[in-house]
Amino acid sequence: MPATIIDGKAVAARVRAEVARDVETFVAEGGTAPGLATILVGDDPASAIYVANKHKAATEVGIQTFDHRLPADTSQEEVAALLARCNQDPEVSGILLQLPVPPPLDGPALTALIDPAKDVDGLTPVSAGLLAHATPGLVPCTPSGVMELLRDAGTDLSGARAVVIGRSILVGKPVAALLLMADATVTVCHSRTRDLAGVCAQADVLIAAVGSPRLVTADFVKPGATVIDVGMNRIDEGLVGDVDFDAVAQVAGAITPVPGGVGPTTIAFLLRNTLTAAQTSRQDLRSAL
Ligand SMILES: NC(=O)c1ccc[n+]([C@@H]2O[C@H](COP(=O)([O-])OP(=O)(O)OC[C@H]3O[C@@H](n4cnc5c(N)ncnc54)[C@H](OP(=O)(O)O)[C@@H]3O)[C@@H](O)[C@H]2O)c1
Repeated sequence: MPATIIDGKAVAARVRAEVARDVETFVAEGGTAPGLATILVGDDPASAIYVANKHKAATEVGIQTFDHRLPADTSQEEVAALLARCNQDPEVSGILLQLPVPPPLDGPALTALIDPAKDVDGLTPVSAGLLAHATPGLVPCTPSGVMELLRDAGTDLSGARAVVIGRSILVGKPVAALLLMADATVTVCHSRTRDLAGVCAQADVLIAAVGSPRLVTADFVKPGATVIDVGMNRIDEGLVGDVDFDAVAQVAGAITPVPGGVGPTTIAFLLRNTLTAAQTSRQDLRSAL
């Protein structure tokens, strides 16, 4: 029987509506509208579209935006100075440095300068450390989206065997940490993994975050497994995931499409994180009074 399709657009729309409602309540209770500052260095057209989409989505839920655009030849010190100003600015609840930054800028070093309380991408070493310790903090957006999709699909994670393909700081590692927190038994695969298909075929839950078009074929998938495809690969045919959707959908129990799966949830959780950062800073302010 073909798999159930997990509808990322519907999940994202629900999360966005919840954030819009919660922003309204936050402001009605006397808070300043949460603020999202974005920093885009250089003129990469794809990055410019991503940033524009984030602004539009933020505005729709009542989050104010601060748009910083810097030329490609901006120095490391100048970007660092802007980050410092955003860190200090009480109107800015969340800071997003659009990655990748043009060389020779050092993206990870700049990201590490973001105040962890405003780290709405969840990519600073402090946020990663909090997640590793299972301590509340700002969690990376795409992994949060993956977990929301699994919840929406009704996947029972406790004791389930989960396999994550990919070990990046952006996706693979935080997804693995979140699955562990949900009591799954987690295996993380990468480019050196032996018998990748054999390891994946044991998974009740398979997460593909690789960046390799249709790497995951039907023989990777245990019948009835839940498959989440994080991959976004542009090929001649258009946008495809890391999963061979048509073949895998004949074997899996549930599967996300590309597009329309994980992608839409990422921005929804950026909005959620921006509101969480504003709420936390207000609580900190209250406790300091
Ligand atoms: N939907 C969204 O919103 C969203 C957000 C972020 C990323 N993405 C997409 O998700 C994908 C992964 O992104 P990323 O940033 O995590 O990529 P990344 O930093 O390039 O990491 C890719 C990971 O895949 C592993 N890998 C590469 N080839 C492999 C193979 N043949 N077999 C097994 N593992 C292999 C790599 O292993 P090594 O560590 O050994 O090199 C690495 O750990 C990309 O397609 C990206 O566009 C989507």
